[in-house]
Amino acid sequence: MVSIFVGFSIILIVASFVIGYGLLLVKRLIQWRQSIKYGAKLPPGSLGWPYVGETLELFSQNPHEFFTNRQKRYGDIFKTHILGCPCIMLASPEAIKFVLMNKANLFKPTYPKSKERLIGSMAIFFQQGPYHAQIRKLVQASLSLDYIKPRIPRIEAIAKSTLDSWADGRVVHVFHELKKFAFDVAVLSIFGELDSYYTEELKENYFTLDKGYNSFPTTLIPCTPYFKSLMARRRLEQIIREIMMERREKRLETKDLFGCLLNFSNEDGKTLSDDQIIDNVIGVLFAAQDTAASMLTWILKYITDYHNLLQDIQNEQMAIYKANDNGKRPLTWTQIREMTVTHRVILESLRMASIISFTYREAVEDVVYDGYLIPKGWKVLPLFRNIHHNPAFFQDPQTFDTSRFQAATTKPHTFMPFGYGAHACPGNEVAKLLMLLFIHHLVTQFRWEVVEAKKGKGGVEYDPFPIPEKGLPAKFWKTCTSQPTPTLAHQLLSIY
Ligand code: HEM
Repeated sequence: MVSIFVGFSIILIVASFVIGYGLLLVKRLIQWRQSIKYGAKLPPGSLGWPYVGETLELFSQNPHEFFTNRQKRYGDIFKTHILGCPCIMLASPEAIKFVLMNKANLFKPTYPKSKERLIGSMAIFFQQGPYHAQIRKLVQASLSLDYIKPRIPRIEAIAKSTLDSWADGRVVHVFHELKKFAFDVAVLSIFGELDSYYTEELKENYFTLDKGYNSFPTTLIPCTPYFKSLMARRRLEQIIREIMMERREKRLETKDLFGCLLNFSNEDGKTLSDDQIIDNVIGVLFAAQDTAASMLTWILKYITDYHNLLQDIQNEQMAIYKANDNGKRPLTWTQIREMTVTHRVILESLRMASIISFTYREAVEDVVYDGYLIPKGWKVLPLFRNIHHNPAFFQDPQTFDTSRFQAATTKPHTFMPFGYGAHACPGNEVAKLLMLLFIHHLVTQFRWEVVEAKKGKGGVEYDPFPIPEKGLPAKFWKTCTSQPTPTLAHQLLSIY
């Protein structure tokens, strides 16, 4: 009986391999015929093993090494097969411009279905064409400098209270704490002023969603991180519906993103559905939080590691702080615009860390670029990080050197930390502003010490973006007491 079962299993395995290889051969034959039809060939590179492709190689090394080694071997355009998909990697500025800008209509954004389900299929990221253009216009307008400038004092207040809450000498997990800061700023950008009850409810459920975002996507077993994420997504939906009802009842016509989405109607009078609004609110929360938190964590690491950098930033920021009567007056827009040294540190940090190493698109039809065939259905990955670390564009790329951004010397389409083209980041001004404001308060009123992590090179973790190892545990102390924290003020009052 056992031997029949073993024999049957072997036959099944062999048969599935034969069928698999057969299908693969048919696929390659079709591609070969396509190559002849278009007079173009597939880019160089290896598709690896059947089914798994080069996925194991990708996971056995740092992803940046994986892509860089292949770029060295095959050139700026090469093919691979990862996570079940044949892919074409692009590491040349011209090719990236072609895919993200010139022929953006031929390459649709693509995300795994499991992730799309968590964010919401009608969110801006997953769209193309008129609906994308419509939503993007609203998002861009409500995240523009005109809208965000009046919010500077509120962002400052959030930065100050975040830092104050750290400054008791305990070990702070910087990345996790910065996620809360970035979340609060994202809520402000989306809803304007929001009742703190709603902010906390949104935060709690969003953080649960976030925890399961990269987990194995099964809904068969309750209590898995992915299942919990989906449940949290449902609760987020309910909370946003409540806020929506309240605003409609009060007939509030606010100019924030939520207000713009609620009050939008196109030339035919068509409004957005509640589901479209909810998906886009969750989408912007998702876009804003981990990115900004990860970048600020890297900046903190760089200025800790390179003491001169901290000194330069401190000189610039202390002058502004003193001019504002030791921080008693809020920062003005002119002062923020003049933070050139800090701004250059942010730009160089964006290049060095390149937290969005690449993005995904999918060819919607066969496309020929530079003599290479990009077959319909293949994934196309513009490799931003490879461009940012290419010595042809950034001399000595592993060195942190802010002077690269002193004059406008970067070649076109070689610096793309916020992406490029139709889907480029509409939140880039908000992101830069929140980083500048946070750094201003950090370096003028606090000192800190990184613990546990190695100085200098240190390790990198992925959560899902690259972050310094262990999320940069650090201790903070307040250095300037001209504006006492509530606890200190309370203590002083209790003495007298
Ligand atoms: C340092 C922080 C940030 C970085 C590095 C960053 C980077 C990016 C990149 C590279 C893209 C393009 C992705 C693609 O082409 O597939 C993108 C898209 C997007 N970002 Fe950001 N981002 C940051 C912060 C923010 C913030 C704070 C917000 C909102 C307040 C935001 C909102 C968005 C949205 C809505 C999109 C989708 C745009 C579209 O699909 O049309 N981002 N971001």
